[in-house]
Amino acid sequence: MGWDPAGNWACGGSNVSRSDLSGVRTGPLAEGEWVTLTDPKGKMHSVRLQAGKSFHTTKGGIALDDLIGGPDGVVVTSVGGMQFLAMRPLMADFTVTMPRGAAIVYPKEAGQIVMAADIFPGARVLEAGVGSGALSLSLLRAIGPTGRLWSYERRDDFATIARRNVETWLGTEHPAWEVRVGDLVESLAASPEDPAEVDRAILDMLAPWDCIDAVGERLVPGGVLLIYVATATQLGRVMDQIRVHQGFTEPAATETIVRNWHAEGLAIRPAHGASSHTGFLVTARRLAPGVTSPLRKRRPAPGAYGPDYTGPRPPWVEPAVSDG
Ligand SMILES: C[S@@+](CC[C@H](N)C(=O)[O-])C[C@H]1O[C@@H](n2cnc3c(N)ncnc32)[C@H](O)[C@@H]1O
Repeated sequence: MGWDPAGNWACGGSNVSRSDLSGVRTGPLAEGEWVTLTDPKGKMHSVRLQAGKSFHTTKGGIALDDLIGGPDGVVVTSVGGMQFLAMRPLMADFTVTMPRGAAIVYPKEAGQIVMAADIFPGARVLEAGVGSGALSLSLLRAIGPTGRLWSYERRDDFATIARRNVETWLGTEHPAWEVRVGDLVESLAASPEDPAEVDRAILDMLAPWDCIDAVGERLVPGGVLLIYVATATQLGRVMDQIRVHQGFTEPAATETIVRNWHAEGLAIRPAHGASSHTGFLVTARRLAPGVTSPLRKRRPAPGAYGPDYTGPRPPWVEPAVSDG
């Protein structure tokens, strides 16, 4: 998938947008839509359907007119006799191939986030940063037409890429999605009542610990805070900062590992190629105003907050004793 030389992603045709704002297209393939052509070796090519044009392969061209007006999921043959499977991309296919500004949340985590953060139809969700808009796509689908999503991004150029990606996928603007350019904490401070409260908050940024107080002020009691971090050092810091806040439940951390398998006759084994690390998910729930989390009875692991530890120090942890 990619943008054409004029920088357009326009997906023409009468079947491009649905009232559910899912971005899913059904019915006959229409001119202007993108399809994925998969060759016999499994290599995928993204092609925009344009009347009178051909897609060129090493085995001759494929007339795109052969696809326009026909069903999804067909086999087309190039002039030189090579067969290609033609299908509309799924949202996950689009997400991993769309233009990027910042690194994206991959579909394996996006799926987890929707469940772990309990994103529901009609939910009011705050998100930062928006980056390339990959996670925004999943959040928008989960909240549906009746939800609201406020996405904060401090880089204007990334916000533009994200808006274009989401609009391309949906085929239209999402009426309940607002991208706000600016630092999250500063933006929230500048608009105390907008949004006045949110049901869920999702952070994917370099220093999420700096935003926990500000986000905690907008999150409803029982609301879910979910933070995606890439590194173990970020994970440790964000977990302890949530504990320091005391207005959240004990945070939980997970890593999502998805392993593909090869299963053919008696050759049944994990697929070749390692699945590399992407990130960690940290979740915690907001307590009611004025309520602080009960002090933990369990003692921290020996040395967890020893003299070498310089991060946020939860209130039940004894002050560091210096050597001197
Ligand atoms: C890894 S990217 C987010 C990717 C996004 N979740 C996606 O799936 O496409 C992190 C983004 O957070 C933005 N960011 C970092 N700190 C921020 C802050 N304090 N306020 C707003 N945006 C911030 C960065 O500019 C960057 O675009």
